[in-house]
Amino acid sequence: MNDTLKIGEVTIERTAALAPMAGVADRAYRLMSKKYGAAYVISEMVSAKGICYNDRKTAELCTVTDEERPMAVQLFGNEPDFMAEAVKIVLDYSPDIIDINMGCPVPKVVGTGAGSALMKNVKLAADVVEAAVKAAGSTPVTVKIRSGWSADSINAPEMAKALEAAGAAAIAVHGRTRDMFYSGESSIDVVKAVKKAVSVPVIGNGDIINADSCVKMYRETCCDLVMIGRGSYGNPFIFQEIAAKLHGKIYTPPDLEEKMKVMLEHIRLILELSEKCEELAMHEARKHAAWYMNGYYGSAKFRGRCYQLSSYAEAEALAAEFIELQRQHKINKM
Ligand SMILES: Cc1cc2nc3c(=O)[nH]c(=O)nc-3n(C[C@H](O)[C@H](O)[C@H](O)COP(=O)(O)O)c2cc1C
Repeated sequence: MNDTLKIGEVTIERTAALAPMAGVADRAYRLMSKKYGAAYVISEMVSAKGICYNDRKTAELCTVTDEERPMAVQLFGNEPDFMAEAVKIVLDYSPDIIDINMGCPVPKVVGTGAGSALMKNVKLAADVVEAAVKAAGSTPVTVKIRSGWSADSINAPEMAKALEAAGAAAIAVHGRTRDMFYSGESSIDVVKAVKKAVSVPVIGNGDIINADSCVKMYRETCCDLVMIGRGSYGNPFIFQEIAAKLHGKIYTPPDLEEKMKVMLEHIRLILELSEKCEELAMHEARKHAAWYMNGYYGSAKFRGRCYQLSSYAEAEALAAEFIELQRQHKINKM
């Protein structure tokens, strides 16, 4: 297996990428993922039309810092002209790659004809990509799709072929239909079928939760890169675990103290990068804190308490209390 892949002229390590996740994978999250070895990261999705109308969130969502590279900015939209205009604006932020979202299932996006609604209109999807590719010049344009709209209309291979013909430089596939949203099982077979259908790189996505499931995705689909979403919640270590496994190295998972240290580092980064006051920025940090505490004795109660955090000092105290609880629990079990 090659150690790297190329999307256009962008070289990416063939370990695991962080999936785009609106409301989750913000700059702090991406930087934490990079620190633990994410090979490639993608911005939260940005509306192409919103950019053209100078949405105030554009700069915050499109900025690419050097520590995040290689990084894509992801756009969604279903109008070729707006997409082309948005791509030109986004180029000012110098993304390594521009990705187009054709997988988002949420009614607000699908209702406009964008996101996974484009899985039902392959011709328009290809027109959107063609317009983006023309506007992007030498910056590669990639597309993230789902397996199809519903179980009786699985068309990811056909869609991928049409997008490749329109100039897409890589295709990422989440092996669920739009109807499934995020439930049920993601299909590895669909990723495999897309890989067979196109010659541009294919990125396999869906239900990767550890090194074993990542290796399975590589082995069974021959995909060029694996992308991880929810498996990285409170777990930036997953990228380290995967890189170790793929490079034949021994991996030692972090103990709880190390995890809590990393959780606090993540919270500090959220506070540092936020323009909001500490209390409001802590609202952003709460879910992340809760995820880092998953899977331990008494987690449910502590996760609930995470959702009440309103200062960094409180987070520090909660982490110390959580560590102490696990220590006591271990002693009691002996
Ligand atoms: C909270 C959340 C936000 C998401 N936002 C985006 C997004 O902005 N763009 C996108 O292409 N996919 C988005 N996705 C889909 C993920 O990128 C990914 O395809 C999906 O979660 C399946 O991968 P997983 O099983 O590893 O989580 C989002 C998923 C979640 C859970």
